[in-house]
Amino acid sequence: MANFDMIIKNGLVVSPAGCSQTDIAIRDGKIAALGKLDDFGEATKVIDANGKYVMPGIIDGHVHIAAPFMGCTGPLDFYSASKAAALGGVTTIIDFTNTMPGDSVLKKIEDRKKEMQIAAIDYSIHAKIVEANAEILSEIKDIVSLGCPTLKMFTTYRRAGVMINDEDILKIMEEAKKCGARPGVHAEDNTLSEYNDDKFTQAGTTGWKYHYISKPPMVEALATKKMIDFSRAVGGELYIFHLTCGEALDEVIKAKKKNLPIYAETCIHYLELNKHVMDDSETGYRYICSPPLRDDKDRMALWQGLKEGVVSVVSSDNCLYDDNEKLGFLDKDKSGNIIPDYKKIANGVSGLEEKLMLLLTDGVGSGKMSISDVCNVCSVNPAKLFGMYPKKGIIQPGSDADIVIVDMNAKKTLSYKTLHYGINFSVYEGKRVSGVPIMTIRRGEIIAEKGHFKAPKGSGRFIKRVL
Ligand code: URP
Ligand code: ZN
Repeated sequence: MANFDMIIKNGLVVSPAGCSQTDIAIRDGKIAALGKLDDFGEATKVIDANGKYVMPGIIDGHVHIAAPFMGCTGPLDFYSASKAAALGGVTTIIDFTNTMPGDSVLKKIEDRKKEMQIAAIDYSIHAKIVEANAEILSEIKDIVSLGCPTLKMFTTYRRAGVMINDEDILKIMEEAKKCGARPGVHAEDNTLSEYNDDKFTQAGTTGWKYHYISKPPMVEALATKKMIDFSRAVGGELYIFHLTCGEALDEVIKAKKKNLPIYAETCIHYLELNKHVMDDSETGYRYICSPPLRDDKDRMALWQGLKEGVVSVVSSDNCLYDDNEKLGFLDKDKSGNIIPDYKKIANGVSGLEEKLMLLLTDGVGSGKMSISDVCNVCSVNPAKLFGMYPKKGIIQPGSDADIVIVDMNAKKTLSYKTLHYGINFSVYEGKRVSGVPIMTIRRGEIIAEKGHFKAPKGSGRFIKRVL
């Protein structure tokens, strides 16, 4: 009988410390040994990764699959999303509860878990908190026990009903600290952005580009600073979801200089896309997401923040809607033409499948980061910050055998036709990438190989997380 289920030989194994030519032996879904093939003995399957990088599976800690936005849920369920994910090298995702005022968050975790059962990659849930009444505060310890110790609060979206007020944020931060949870924030100042919304509505200037004009970097920086100060007042930790600009980054840099436990994430579209794509009156709405896309100076600040380790994580914030859903809430004039209004567009863009390829191309390929940096921001740091390390996020004995094999010489053109979201456009249409995942292994099983997805529905597992 073979000693191992699988051996991956001759590959360059990527870790935070660098890359080394090491063979990997896998048994029962776990990494059993690292070393030289000759020392391992027989395996049922041997994969030759000569000339390829062998990385820990990508953990995407910020996705919204089938997330309701004004009644739209997007084209993906957790199984079809698993296909896009696996083909992009992703082996674990973390989504969110769909909490609204009055809901029990515990109940919402159970609901989301049921929806996620069809996933073919591993998954977990952040608890979205929209208020801090006695019931919600008493649930936090149980939310932690369920294995979901990371929370998300919105400082904006008041009119959509999910903004939490300042007093409640402080209460949640306090309780989270007591219970071993880490609060996270979507940081945009609501007063300022609603002031701009109302001003533009009155002036009749509501075209797509007014989305980024209504929420300039100061809107994000103001809320980021406030949340850091709240966290400092409470003496707790804070995760900042989707940081997008130099001005907000400066607040994180200042906090880090004071040794505050503040952690920042950015998302792939803020590194890749310039806000002026929204100036196109035909297609600009496709890029509407929040916070908005920024200019090149901000993009470069984020790349620098990654290089210096101030930004710890790159997520996708994958939140997809097709044209029908994106445009479905707009009013029409007497001739039947749509009246553009950036406030009525379902927010969000893709990234789950593209993220690794884009980081390999524009990060590693252009010298802005090393492949170890990619491993840190996509696997090691999310595993640590979200409470999954070293079960996930690293290739070492005892860890889950979640692995992506990458060919840096393979090239591909990104298009809605070649991506697997089932929508009729891509925000990266025509983008040429160099560096492609050619095999994805989840707990020792090959789930994607050379563009083919192979994992059965429901083969993903809920991952209980502990901070
Ligand atoms: O535009 C975005 N980001 N949509 C998803 C919800 C969120 O704020 O993360
Ligand atoms: Zn958000």
